[in-house]
Amino acid sequence: MTLGIRLDGRTALITGGGSGLGLAVAEALHAQGAAVAILGRTKAKLESAAVKIAAGGDSPVLTVVADVNEDDAVTDAVRQVHAWQGRLDIVVNSAAPLLAVSALAEADEAVVSDALDAKTVGYLRVARAALPLIEKEGTGRIINIAGMAAHVLVPNIGVAAAVNAAVVALTSYLAAEAAPQGVLVNAVSPGMTLTQVWKDRHAATAEAKGITPEQVRDGMVENLGIRLGRWARPEEIAAAALYLASDLATYVTGQTLQVDGGLGKSVI
Ligand SMILES: NC(=O)c1ccc[n+]([C@@H]2O[C@H](COP(=O)([O-])OP(=O)(O)OC[C@H]3O[C@@H](n4cnc5c(N)ncnc54)[C@H](OP(=O)(O)O)[C@@H]3O)[C@@H](O)[C@H]2O)c1
Repeated sequence: MTLGIRLDGRTALITGGGSGLGLAVAEALHAQGAAVAILGRTKAKLESAAVKIAAGGDSPVLTVVADVNEDDAVTDAVRQVHAWQGRLDIVVNSAAPLLAVSALAEADEAVVSDALDAKTVGYLRVARAALPLIEKEGTGRIINIAGMAAHVLVPNIGVAAAVNAAVVALTSYLAAEAAPQGVLVNAVSPGMTLTQVWKDRHAATAEAKGITPEQVRDGMVENLGIRLGRWARPEEIAAAALYLASDLATYVTGQTLQVDGGLGKSVI
């Protein structure tokens, strides 16, 4: 058996594929030959992402407008992607609301339940809809983008921590339940990754403090003790998802790969 990273002939669905990490994952899988469907709520965003993805290879790209909060819309979207190429191999869950920043004890209850519903339950909705259709011959994968907040204490992101910890738990359980069907379920927990959402946040903080966005970024690297001394690039997180999607990971299931530049390592 030849093990490789190529995904020719496989079909992937990436929720949240219109921007940030989801887009980086979509580009990485597509560049290795997968037909890629990206799902999100904003048609224009998906269409411009599709142009970017298509520029990196010859495989087809599909955009699907749907809200992961809506059960029927998710079921229809997954069926549509399966019907598109007659198969569904890889599902990557990356759709999530913007990070809520506050002390957990002060977080609005609606913000907590909305975040849990949109991300944790959203991931579960997509996985449940996909499991009956996903390939059972060794190529079937579900990959959940969790977050390092699940594993380390980062001040003021307790809501994300609870949501991502739940994603880690649901990844383990789904992995155990899907194992008899030969479907592998894993997660990637990214550390601080420089997506547009964070660039915008840095610009706003920089303006308020009269410093540069680079100074905001570098200050966070120092405060959080990121060992590699910098933020991740989205493609560095996408590389971990690509590995889990490929034949290089045929004996890996129920795992959460922490791709965090050493953020999770304590100092003694
Ligand atoms: N960037 C980081 O440093 C970092 C670190 C750890 C974990 N993460 C995780 O990585 C994932 C992606 O984050 P990101 O930084 O790439 O953020 P992002 O650019 O905002 O990506 C999120 C995507 O999800 C879509 N989305 C949001 N709610 C949705 C819904 N209800 N239904 C369908 N699509 C929805 C958004 O598009 P629409 O609004 O158009 O639907 C957007 O394209 C998230 O799960 C996040 O928690 C990120």
